[in-house]
Amino acid sequence: MTDQTLPHPPLSGPPVSRWWGCFPELRRDTLGFLLHCQSYGDVVKLPMGLVIGLLLRQRDAAMYVLNHPADVKHVLVTNQGNYRKAPVAPAESRIFGHGVLHSEGDTHHRQRRLFLPFFHGSHVTAYTDLITGKACEQMAQWQDSTTLDIGREMAHLTLSIIWRLLFGRDVRSESEMIRETISAGQRLIKLQYDSLLASAIPLWIPIPRHRRFTQGFNLMETMIVRSIHERRLGPDRQDDVLSLLLSATDTEGRPLTNEEIRDELMTFLLAGHETTANALTWTWFLLSQYPAVRERLTQELHEVLGNRIPTAADLPRLRYMKMVWDESLRLYPPAWALHTRLANAQDHLPSGAVLPPGAWVFISPWNVHRHPRWFPDPDRFDPERFSEDAKHTRPAFSYIPFGAGGRRCLGESFAELEGQLILATMASHVHFHIVDGQTIQPEPGMTLHPTVPVYMIVQRLSLPAARPVLA
Ligand code: HEM
Repeated sequence: MTDQTLPHPPLSGPPVSRWWGCFPELRRDTLGFLLHCQSYGDVVKLPMGLVIGLLLRQRDAAMYVLNHPADVKHVLVTNQGNYRKAPVAPAESRIFGHGVLHSEGDTHHRQRRLFLPFFHGSHVTAYTDLITGKACEQMAQWQDSTTLDIGREMAHLTLSIIWRLLFGRDVRSESEMIRETISAGQRLIKLQYDSLLASAIPLWIPIPRHRRFTQGFNLMETMIVRSIHERRLGPDRQDDVLSLLLSATDTEGRPLTNEEIRDELMTFLLAGHETTANALTWTWFLLSQYPAVRERLTQELHEVLGNRIPTAADLPRLRYMKMVWDESLRLYPPAWALHTRLANAQDHLPSGAVLPPGAWVFISPWNVHRHPRWFPDPDRFDPERFSEDAKHTRPAFSYIPFGAGGRRCLGESFAELEGQLILATMASHVHFHIVDGQTIQPEPGMTLHPTVPVYMIVQRLSLPAARPVLA
């Protein structure tokens, strides 16, 4: 019997529109719909409807949502060569260009080989003082009982850190503009994914949402290109990503062009600060909702650090804090959906399902992390799920906040260091209390962010003994 004649178990899925497929449901409530899909099996088939099928010239075009960790491993790791990234919304493509996030094949391998040593665990610990120093600077601006938009504070903090990592200097007044451009970009990208019409209007047509995005984006681009020029002219070599890119060569031994360097810097700028800022925002929100967890965390920090600012060497001893961080990334994974993969050829998954060539494969950490089979009572925030014993009761790949395989997050070591150092530095000296009356819900955009600003009141516990001096 050939592959074609083997009896394949039929895949089921929720009823969807004949013309528009699963898109109306996904648009209405993406996160809720994905969770609803869990009840249809390990692999859920979501037809994309006749209209998209016609546009793609693909009969029976469908998305396949993977719910089983073994299938996740198969697609991301074991048989990753069979999959490529699906096309993205025009605004997303404009932002990331041909940087490492979207490239494929040999180019992608070369880019990863270039960045891996820089983002390797032992190299990133050199940034400990930068991270804790910036966290202390930010905390010093908060008076007791001040109300903060915590997402905004975390975004400024992580932006100031990634900017130093990329350009070796401090971000100046540009910070607010960058944040606004990213918000405009998030809104536009979401709209382009939600509406065929919106994605069909070229970005150069100056409707208000395009203008808001392109004006800010062009400014960001100009800043980046100016930094590249200044560095090319200047004598100094620094240990930053810009220097790394300027000394890199392509497969033919040629230096990278300004456009190639710009694409990489833009990719790291966006991939490297929004994600961590959202992870921290959700963590502060969760801690404010679970005072017993916060007390236990404060106690651990007190025992391990006293009034000291943490270093990378302290992190292995801050075990409960790591459990809190992991559980927060489980409940609110900033990368809530991995980039959709397209199957090159038919593939048999370990769960028994068969994906046809051209299948759109959708893997969502949000969905996998909230599967009751691996995480009972999945909506509850319970750091104990990440105790050493509990971790071993679950299959590998049931927890994938940083993805897996050849496209696993390049900045994972840095994000882990940064997130936990900020958490340790701040949680030992302040508590954040949520302002009453807010309804905080997750919104799936480029990252998983709260639908509204999260306002929190600062309670100062103590002042740090001494803070790192930043060069
Ligand atoms: C909590 C913070 C972060 C989370 C949850 C996160 C998550 C992810 C995930 C899930 C992917 C894989 C996407 C896919 O397979 O479709 C990814 C890729 C990537 N991330 Fe992160 N990330 C974080 C922070 C960072 C930081 C700090 C940087 C840079 C300093 C970074 C740079 C990248 C890059 C360059 C890629 C593309 C890798 C490739 O395609 O080869 N990320 N990230």
